[in-house]
Amino acid sequence: MEVALEDKDSSSSANVEYHQAFRDRWKETDATMCRHSMSFHLHHAIRSDFFASYLYLLDKTPMVKLFPVTCEYIKGEKQFYYRAQQFYEDVEASEEGMMGDFVEISHVDLEGSRQFLQRFVGPGKAGTHCALDCGSGIGRVTKGVLLPVFEKMEMADMMEHFLLHAHEEYLGDDADRIETYYCYNLQEFTPPKNKYDVIWMQWVACHLTDKDLMNFLFRCKKSLRPNGVIIMKDNMARQGCKLDSTDSTISRHLDIMKCIIGKAGLEVLEVELQEGFPEVIMPVWMIAMK
Ligand SMILES: C[S@@+](CC[C@H](N)C(=O)[O-])C[C@H]1O[C@@H](n2cnc3c(N)ncnc32)[C@H](O)[C@@H]1O
Repeated sequence: MEVALEDKDSSSSANVEYHQAFRDRWKETDATMCRHSMSFHLHHAIRSDFFASYLYLLDKTPMVKLFPVTCEYIKGEKQFYYRAQQFYEDVEASEEGMMGDFVEISHVDLEGSRQFLQRFVGPGKAGTHCALDCGSGIGRVTKGVLLPVFEKMEMADMMEHFLLHAHEEYLGDDADRIETYYCYNLQEFTPPKNKYDVIWMQWVACHLTDKDLMNFLFRCKKSLRPNGVIIMKDNMARQGCKLDSTDSTISRHLDIMKCIIGKAGLEVLEVELQEGFPEVIMPVWMIAMK
């Protein structure tokens, strides 16, 4: 299988053999038969060579591996995003809803995030004027990590009922410090330029395809103020990539995530594994980048 890509000489010598075989037959068959014979061999060659190359890429390149599972369209709708939308429509606007079956680890998670964030804000580092929480849900991170640090905040999420709950109930009086709620899909959202000291993305990078994530990070970079940072916190697969079709998420190995970040033109500043989560949970990493 791999020969198709790795050993060009042997595949071109195979083509010469095909060609020779056609020539030999040519003498013995009439024009119609030859055409059929040729199209059969050509068809066969394209099929085997094309799929051999495709399978080789699937095997060797994680970025390619993700493509077939995230590019399915039905009736013009990208299924990967459609399924996530359907999933969150039934999710309650609550901390339990945001944390799935693991609401009990929310306080450990928030504490880990607060400590990580501290390293990047302050004199000579990112300012504390304004932050953006992407895939904010009801604002669990906004409330527990970001509002205590930043004067004002903005939140972006695709689900209106989460943002409404944040504004009307969950954030209490602090809702006054939310300058804008963006009800958008991140893959279609362009945050305002040069606005944020910190952009936080927690458990939402896994909801974007590689290409959309890369492009979104690229747009986020343009939204940072001087010394600003983007912090991503997400499940990272122990190996390769893992698709969960229930909520349409892709967990990527840390190296794959770093590769996407690099392609978005960002530099990784620090990475840290969130400690204190149960063993059964996929590793959760925090990545700071600029
Ligand atoms: C697991 S929840 C995490 C919420 C929040 N970041 C937290 O840690 O509590 C994932 C959130 O991402 C949002 N989301 C998923 N896919 C999205 C997309 N393509 N664009 C915008 N928001 C999305 C969901 O609506 C949901 O609020």
